[in-house]
Amino acid sequence: MKVDEIKTIGVCGAGTMGAGIVQQAAQSGYKVKVLDVQDAFLERGMNIITKSLDRLLSKEKITADARRAVLDRITMSTDPAVMAEADFIIEAILEEVSAKKALFESLEPVVGPDTIYATNTSSISVTQLAALTARPDRVVGMHFFNPVPVMKLVEIIPALQTTPDVVDVTIELTKKLGKTPVPCKDTPSFIVNRILIPMIIDAARVYESGVATAADIDTAMKLGANLPMGPLELADFVGIDIVYHIGNMLYEYTKEARFNPPDLVRNMVMAGYLGRKSGKGFYDYAEKH
Ligand code: 3HC
Repeated sequence: MKVDEIKTIGVCGAGTMGAGIVQQAAQSGYKVKVLDVQDAFLERGMNIITKSLDRLLSKEKITADARRAVLDRITMSTDPAVMAEADFIIEAILEEVSAKKALFESLEPVVGPDTIYATNTSSISVTQLAALTARPDRVVGMHFFNPVPVMKLVEIIPALQTTPDVVDVTIELTKKLGKTPVPCKDTPSFIVNRILIPMIIDAARVYESGVATAADIDTAMKLGANLPMGPLELADFVGIDIVYHIGNMLYEYTKEARFNPPDLVRNMVMAGYLGRKSGKGFYDYAEKH
């Protein structure tokens, strides 16, 4: 398959990452088919996209006609048959192997033989996921960053089974989506999360041991290391549960103590203090926003 043959992109999962990918693909001129398991999830995804486009409109970065055209390119459904037309499918559903396996099984009778399955997984082996499908040679990791419309990077992760033509077309497609591809071996957390998540975990340890307030730690890292967001603010943005999950996964894999999330992070997950999405994390969003 050549990149110019890709006209329609399928996105499975309309959560924060899925919605961002849908928006990016539709803004790049692709027809986009979106699949999720419930209408309510699709509606939430559409709300994320509409809000994001409205923000661009209010800043005069797009016209009202362009906004309408982007929305018109998007079709949403809970029926896997919607993926029949997709030339390239990006999976961004929940991080559970069984759910991803079920998704690939539901797509198999519907999609064409050449269709590529890209996974946005941040914590599951791409090789493991490829082995669960009927087309392991056409599975590749395509790891986007949040917020997708803003973040320029996409990590490209070939599974052990992926053929070079699939990697090439994924790299070309990433460029057509306006992003910068960086290839990476199929290892836990790839490049960015393997470096970023331990930094966040270390910041949580510094906070836990009473060195400074959350706001002062974030201010220090923003002004002293030129980060756009402090590490604790970023933890709330990414989700404390995600930080915990990735930290645990890296710890299990490497057995290096530095990856092991501290008690505070584990307790925050148990308490449901998951960051922005739950209204409370290192910061209280009911008060702050
Ligand atoms: N959709 C579209 N545009 C958006 C947006 C969205 N959801 N969110 C922000 N923007 C745009 C704004 O319109 C603005 O554009 P402009 O500069 O052209 O006017 C620009 O981004 C900056 O936004 P704001 O002025 O509202 O706010 P900030 O300057 O504070 O930037 C931020 C917000 C881009 C989120 C910035 O704080 C940032 O880069 N934070 C770090 C994000 C990061 O590290 N993400 C990676 C997380 S790890 C991950 O995703 C991997 C996963 O596997 C865990």
